[in-house]
Amino acid sequence: MAKFVIENSGPLHGEVEISGSKNAILPIMAAALLSEEPCEISDAPALRDVDVMCRLLRSIGSNVKEDYDNHKVTIHTGKITEFEAPYDLVTLMRASILVTGPLLARTGKARIALPGGCAIGDRPIDLHLKGFQALGAEIEKSHGYVEAKVDKLIGGKVYLDFPSVGATENIMTAAVLAEGHTIIENAAEEPEIVDLANFLNKMGAKIKGAGTDTIRIEGVSRLHGANHTVIPDRIETGTFMIAAAITRGSVLLKNVVPDHVKPVIAKLRECGAVVEDLDEGMLVRGDVNPLISTDIKTMPYPGFPTDMQPQFMAFLTTVQGCSIIVETIFENRYMHVGELNRMGADIKIEGRSAVIPGGKKLLGAQVISTDLRAGAAMVLAGLTGEGPTEVSEIYHIERGYEDFVKKFNRLGAKIYRVDE
Ligand code: UD1
Repeated sequence: MAKFVIENSGPLHGEVEISGSKNAILPIMAAALLSEEPCEISDAPALRDVDVMCRLLRSIGSNVKEDYDNHKVTIHTGKITEFEAPYDLVTLMRASILVTGPLLARTGKARIALPGGCAIGDRPIDLHLKGFQALGAEIEKSHGYVEAKVDKLIGGKVYLDFPSVGATENIMTAAVLAEGHTIIENAAEEPEIVDLANFLNKMGAKIKGAGTDTIRIEGVSRLHGANHTVIPDRIETGTFMIAAAITRGSVLLKNVVPDHVKPVIAKLRECGAVVEDLDEGMLVRGDVNPLISTDIKTMPYPGFPTDMQPQFMAFLTTVQGCSIIVETIFENRYMHVGELNRMGADIKIEGRSAVIPGGKKLLGAQVISTDLRAGAAMVLAGLTGEGPTEVSEIYHIERGYEDFVKKFNRLGAKIYRVDE
């Protein structure tokens, strides 16, 4: 099993180019199933999750070309031959369930392994299913699978009890080919939803309101192929912003949309970091002011992203003063706390809140990457730790960060990938 060895690297300096967004490309790739014509997606990051989605689409009948030298993925689904997202792929990648909406819309049938829990929480799919039912689908669960069937999807009104990103995406991709109007209320407003809507509209869909809490979709009878460039990854952006701040360095981030990382910018500024929006990119400096504590509550977009909570927590252990984080999106997203405490942090959890005393000099230790973003947090902590840090189970990190080691190395970080 491979691991990362990280040494105290001093302040990071230089430029980093942010890759295309993982969470944007996965639903867009699934949505390509909606047309029998080819779709070309640019700025595709070379990631394990993207490859898993390619495998899933191939198993459904798509002809998929992965050209990571040019960051392009082409998907052509002349005919759908399978209607299933099998257990092995769904357990490997939860986002596999995003093929349900497109399969149901194009063929009237989808059979998906129920994803079950994961390291950050229970993560049910009841809202996805509620949406399909509102469009007329019948849902049956048996033997760990859920089967959705319908003769013809009919537009309907769906109120989401929580603005779930995945449920909004799955319902949108089902409703685009339904007969009549669909309204999704309390929809997720994340930039990835807007990117998906832009792609679907290029295919000929009629979607309005993406990026607000009410999405209106007028069904069309068929969609054609489209070319699309995915948005930059806002969580990778945030991770490198923290890398600059936690090492008291200065990093210029290129290919970023500052609007998408507004809450991270606001919180870093509250801590005393300098964030400047320049013509050539976004400059983040942790070397200007003394850095101090802040409080954070994770919220659906445009609130502070849960996917940045572990990385920001690692940073807060190093600033002056005590911070509080409240995690409201996932009930169990504190697996990294025990690992940070192994490095000398003294974080206490009480229900959904974490109390983070600052001013810690972290010490290198052997730690586990318990999930994708928790793994990134351990690496960030390792950059400032005294003595080497070994992060194991790094396949989580490699699921979601393209050229992780290379990009950090170019900024002067001492990170090495070791195959055991
Ligand atoms: C997506 C992101 C993930 C991010 C999350 C929240 C992708 C591939 N993944 O995941 O990185 O952390 O958004 O920003 O884009 N819920 C229900 N019932 C449902 C669906 C969700 O109760 O049917 C709950 C979940 O348990 C969770 C909350 O809603 O507590 C948010 O989940 P959701 O927005 O659906 O996240 P994902 O789409 O799975």
